[in-house]
Amino acid sequence: MVTGGSGFIGSNFIRFLLEKSDFEGRIINIDKLTYAGNPENLEDIAKEYGGRYIFEKVDICDQDSLHRVFDDYRINVICHFAAESHVDRSIKGPADFIQTNIVGTFNLLELARSNQDRFILFHHISTDEVYGSLGKDGYFTETTPYRPNSPYSASKAASDHLVRAYHKTYNLPTTISNCSNNYGPYQFPEKLIPLIILNARERNPLPLYGDGRNVRDWLYVEDHCKAVWTIMSKGRLGETYNVGGETEMENIRIVEMLCDIIDEMTGSSDKRSRRELITFVKDRPGHDRRYAIDFTKLREEMNWTPEESLESGLRKTVQWYLDHQGWLERVRTGEYRRWIEEHYES
Ligand code: NAD
Ligand code: DAU
Repeated sequence: MVTGGSGFIGSNFIRFLLEKSDFEGRIINIDKLTYAGNPENLEDIAKEYGGRYIFEKVDICDQDSLHRVFDDYRINVICHFAAESHVDRSIKGPADFIQTNIVGTFNLLELARSNQDRFILFHHISTDEVYGSLGKDGYFTETTPYRPNSPYSASKAASDHLVRAYHKTYNLPTTISNCSNNYGPYQFPEKLIPLIILNARERNPLPLYGDGRNVRDWLYVEDHCKAVWTIMSKGRLGETYNVGGETEMENIRIVEMLCDIIDEMTGSSDKRSRRELITFVKDRPGHDRRYAIDFTKLREEMNWTPEESLESGLRKTVQWYLDHQGWLERVRTGEYRRWIEEHYES
């Protein structure tokens, strides 16, 4: 079972598993289809891998539906992506984050525990944001104390603790990965990179919070998917693994790189540079200054390293968004929400 498989990373993960990995089993994708979940992300996969890919519109907070899916498909492995994932939304309204990220994770853990005779692995996807914020130096390791600063990261921290506790107390077979900022195809255009691509293409203002010098460690989504599958296949039970892209960058520099790539790709480098669209706006409350990941453990135990460079990953991403303007238009206008209502809501 993959939870949240219709979102950004989940849909890339399912695509990766079926098209590019040695995985031979069947995937049951359960997703509530919130604003961030889009079945269109896997429309081609559903057609091509009909027998091995099944979608169920299920909310992880709905215990009855979870029970039904668990029993119907005799679930024995969970890869848990489903979450409310956007920090700014968690600041405006934390309630859904508490429900989905904490209570939803608890529901899944309970189901796994009550089927422990057949249960093989619960892999929990988490974030580097649980560790808080770094100063100029240093890296997050798996032993860095938790200091979450936003309602989002606090809810993810709570879910990590529950997963860890279920391993210690009930010996549930679990692994956890904490990764840095993902980017790539199918990311909802509220997050920095797709938002900037969208605005830059249309020559709208490019909002940078505060002084624009906050640092993130960017990880190409397919590298992350490979890391998750590696951990699921070879990770030690009860362990946590950090996953990072080895590409620390100030936000302003990322935005400048995107402006230059879009100017070049759209053949408009002779016109005014899109860098002129950069606009400094009010800072995010509690904005973490710097994230940087030390993934030595994953590299040494399982020989994983990220393969995509930031320049090539950003180019691929910009190209994908330029080639998928219909997708972008639909997720922005609510056209796909209407489609979901027609297809999935009774
Ligand atoms: P996303 O917002 O794109 O997708 C989340 C998916 O979960 C959506 O399909 C949504 O419909 C589904 N969902 C939400 N609430 C649900 C519920 N109650 N029941 C069932 N499904 C529900 O998120 P993403 O960026 O793909 O992130 C996936 C996971 O990775 C999350 O757990 C997030 O915390 C973690 N993560 C993300 C990043 C990143 O940079 N995007 C980095 C580190 C960790
Ligand atoms: O580090 C992992 C986390 O990365 C994940 O756990 C989260 O799910 C994911 O959303 C992401 O969180 P961030 O808050 O780092 O990502 P976001 O894209 O929202 O912002 C990246 C940086 O850019 C951050 O410093 C805030 C800044 N920013 C963001 C937006 C949307 C801007 O300056 N302007 C913007 O308009």
